Amino acid sequence: MVYLVSESDFRNRDVVGTRDFTRDQLEFIFDKTVEVKTNPNTFKDKLKGKEVTLIFFEPSTRTYNSFLTAANMLGCTTVGFQDPSFSSYGGKGESLYDTIKMFSSYSDCIIMRHPAMGSAKFAAEISNKPIINGGSGSQEHPTQTMLDMFTIREKFGKIDGLTVGMIGDLKYSRTTSSLSYALTNYNVKIIFIAPDFLQVRPEVEAYVKQKNVNFMKTRELSSAINELDVLYVTRIQKERFSDPDEHKKTKGFYQVNSDSIKGCKDSLVILHPLPRVDELSTSIDTTKHALYFQQAENGKYLRVALLSLMLGG
Ligand code: NCD
Repeated sequence: MVYLVSESDFRNRDVVGTRDFTRDQLEFIFDKTVEVKTNPNTFKDKLKGKEVTLIFFEPSTRTYNSFLTAANMLGCTTVGFQDPSFSSYGGKGESLYDTIKMFSSYSDCIIMRHPAMGSAKFAAEISNKPIINGGSGSQEHPTQTMLDMFTIREKFGKIDGLTVGMIGDLKYSRTTSSLSYALTNYNVKIIFIAPDFLQVRPEVEAYVKQKNVNFMKTRELSSAINELDVLYVTRIQKERFSDPDEHKKTKGFYQVNSDSIKGCKDSLVILHPLPRVDELSTSIDTTKHALYFQQAENGKYLRVALLSLMLGG
């Protein structure tokens, strides 16, 4: 395959959102991830001497720890915090601006998760070191999307031609927003499955439309299940509801279980960024459709590949 991109395109670049990446660049990252997954030892200590900052202003299990594991595997040292209450930002009222300034002077790259929309872009404007967005409010989560798409490509050998359903809280989920943007680089059909009040945000829908991607919206999984190649499930983003009554309305609204996937393709793949609450039944775990734990594992390889490309390993 001939690429229009090379490793140098990734050196010291920010990873703020998936719209900043071309299809060739995404494919380049996926190919690098295959290298990591096949030969992890060749990446060991490749970034020795580099320092990576992890500053997480919101809870995280997978993103924080897979980045930490990836940085450690590459031989980087790490600084930062997983709980902002132990930082001057959380404990003494220091500004985000000053926090980012400090960490950009300490390290070679900043991985940040923050509840505010636009926080990653803000950080990228302040920092003289590259920023990786580990989740910015309900807006974007680009490295999650990269690992999601890597997992899809690994399973099907391609992304073109697939029908991808996204079910759940499409309004507040940053994972489905980033995934929707990135999928517009491919010839796919997207089906957004959610009750009206949790449907895909207008700006995401507008982008997908503008990119001429075939998409539809439906309230019911049953109306789409037979045509899906991928079903991407998300939890209700409880922490993003400003009105507790609106959140109450979502209770038990949908659950993906053995009954709700009746009639699906034999090859259907079910993904979930995790954590799950009650929207994805554990009865799915033992079916051949469940790929979410491999998906999470792929996050480690993808993040090794990305850090290595960005920091020069
Ligand atoms: C997601 C997130 O933080 O947006 N989790 C993750 O990074 N794997 C999904 C979620 O919290 O629902």
